[in-house]
Amino acid sequence: MRFQLTIFLLAASATLSTALPTWQAFQDWAKGFQGKIVPDHTSPRPSISCHPKSPYLPLPFPSPRNKICYVRSHNDGITDDSPYILEALHSCNKGGHVVFREGIRYFISTALDLTFLDHIDIDIQGYVLFSNDTTYWQANSFKFGFQNVTSFFKLGGNDVNIYGGGTLDGNGQAWYDLYAKDIYILRPVLIGIDGLHDSIISNLALRYSPQYYHFVANATNVVFDNINISGASTSANVAKNTDGWDTYRSSGIVIQNSYINNGDDCVAFKPNSTNMLVQNLFCNGSHGISVGSLGQYVGEYDIVENIYVFNASMHNTTDGARIKVWPDSPSELSGDLQGGGGSGMVNNITYDTMLIDNVDYAIEVDQCYGQSNPTICLQYPSSLTITDIVFKNFKGKTSKKYVPEIGTFACSSGTVCNNISAADIEVVSPSGSDLAYCLNVDEMALDVTCSSVYKGFN
Ligand SMILES: *[C@@H]1O[C@H](CO)[C@@H](O)[C@H](O)[C@H]1NC(C)=O
Ligand SMILES: *[C@@H]1O[C@H](CO)[C@@H](O)[C@H](O)[C@H]1NC(C)=O
Ligand SMILES: *[C@@H]1O[C@H](CO)[C@@H](O)[C@H](O)[C@H]1NC(C)=O
Ligand SMILES: *[C@@H]1O[C@H](CO)[C@@H](O)[C@H](O)[C@H]1NC(C)=O
Ligand SMILES: *[C@@H]1O[C@H](CO)[C@@H](O)[C@H](O)[C@H]1NC(C)=O
Ligand SMILES: *[C@@H]1O[C@H](CO)[C@@H](O)[C@H](O)[C@H]1NC(C)=O
Ligand SMILES: *[C@@H]1O[C@H](CO)[C@@H](O)[C@H](O)[C@H]1NC(C)=O
Ligand SMILES: *[C@@H]1O[C@H](CO)[C@@H](O)[C@H](O)[C@H]1NC(C)=O
Ligand SMILES: *[C@@H]1O[C@H](CO)[C@@H](O)[C@H](O)[C@H]1NC(C)=O
Ligand SMILES: *[C@@H]1O[C@H](CO)[C@@H](O)[C@H](O)[C@H]1NC(C)=O
Repeated sequence: MRFQLTIFLLAASATLSTALPTWQAFQDWAKGFQGKIVPDHTSPRPSISCHPKSPYLPLPFPSPRNKICYVRSHNDGITDDSPYILEALHSCNKGGHVVFREGIRYFISTALDLTFLDHIDIDIQGYVLFSNDTTYWQANSFKFGFQNVTSFFKLGGNDVNIYGGGTLDGNGQAWYDLYAKDIYILRPVLIGIDGLHDSIISNLALRYSPQYYHFVANATNVVFDNINISGASTSANVAKNTDGWDTYRSSGIVIQNSYINNGDDCVAFKPNSTNMLVQNLFCNGSHGISVGSLGQYVGEYDIVENIYVFNASMHNTTDGARIKVWPDSPSELSGDLQGGGGSGMVNNITYDTMLIDNVDYAIEVDQCYGQSNPTICLQYPSSLTITDIVFKNFKGKTSKKYVPEIGTFACSSGTVCNNISAADIEVVSPSGSDLAYCLNVDEMALDVTCSSVYKGFN
């Protein structure tokens, strides 16, 4: 009897989950407000603090605002509201507070250049949905010139304070299904940042991004706090490359107190990411918190330096802490991802306090990224150095994927990898072992049992 009941429940939830996720979420959300009159109001500014670790720069200190602009909406989920959005942002820029009203739907089907923002609060209480017109967005989204990144809108400026508890929904299902047919389509990231300074983005739900949730480029002193990310495909086509945050050419970024349920890196530090603090994250189903990939492009010099990652809990991920560097030879991971031959440095990175729960590799240092043949990798050691790396206070259990190994420390030569330590690593595989593949590293500095069996890379 009990057995039959379980089958019935499973069948019922399977039927539910075949509904288009965004459309369903949008309808359900709207129903919650049916017949209710929500008076116009502004949200109080969240008070943001960074602890237990302190950031590299003093926190942004938003100036007071002295004007309120409520964003109008057709509220039908079909008609483009972007003219209303631009109108409100322009009239409240330089000292105002823009409100996307509670209980109201906003629909965006036009690419928006929001790099003019200056001294503004953007209070998103409503539900903002991007259209699923994949043809329009591919022709009109903003191009970032790095790894084919594009975005629905481009956010930039100074003293921009975004909060409000509302939702941004990228309507990703159409994109997940299209990507399965053609890996060369350009899927927009949900939040594309180019040139944002002294700003705070907090208290938002982000759903169904077609690709990364955030691409943070040319940014300094930006804090992300209390961001709730989730969105999975409901078809057989997996939501791929839905990284939580990718930082690029940026410095002084804080990412904290957030919940990330996604299908690629939880956070990734791409070329020229420095002075970053990441703390108190819950990451489920991702590829871990990654430095890289770096060294992908010949002739470029990539720097990732001074990164502190504290107190992340990693569940159902391929990696906990990862450093991925391409070797000095052309390598290919897939048709749309190839590289190798770039130079640069990864220096002073600390991963402190990490919970490992069903993770394939707790730690993966890999200087042979994209090259499945280790002999070729060793023939062409990376010209991107890895120095002063600390992993400490890791606890938990890995998945069975690489049993009996829990991690890998694979350097393409001893001279390009230096001063890598792993202390207080209380992580075991399902068989109870704590083996890790060690190649060209100082084994004495690693609190794991080194093995010479290469189990592959993620
Ligand atoms: C960042 O700034 C550089 C230098 O101003 C510029 O060339 C580039 O287009 C900007 N955006 C990105 C995504 O790199
Ligand atoms: C795209 O959105 C429309 C509503 O705007 C919906 O009817 C359609 O089913 C969606 N398509 C996909 C593939 O999500
Ligand atoms: C994030 O959102 C999901 C779905 O609405 C909710 O179940 C979960 O409790 C939220 N998590 C946090 C930490 O806010
Ligand atoms: C990173 O910074 C280095 C040193 O300033 C510079 O040479 C390189 O071009 C930068 N790379 C990118 C991708 O901006
Ligand atoms: C670690 O992060 C979790 C949330 O994932 C939080 O509940 C906990 O308080 C944090 N621990 C410390 C020491 O800040
Ligand atoms: C983690 O991801 C798994 C698989 O997608 C999902 O079943 C589970 O509900 C998620 N857990 C949380 C707490 O979101
Ligand atoms: C290394 O990073 C830590 C924290 O991430 C920072 O406090 C320290 O100043 C950095 N060391 C150097 C030599 O810059
Ligand atoms: C990990 O995934 C499994 C199966 O998908 C799920 O049951 C579990 O809740 C997930 N773990 C967390 C912490 O969400
Ligand atoms: C970018 O797109 C081009 C053309 O679709 C493709 O050849 C290339 O592999 C892509 N590059 C990356 C890094 O995805
Ligand atoms: C090794 O790295 C640690 C952590 O960044 C640093 O404190 C120490 O000075 C480095 N040691 C050497 C010999 O460079």
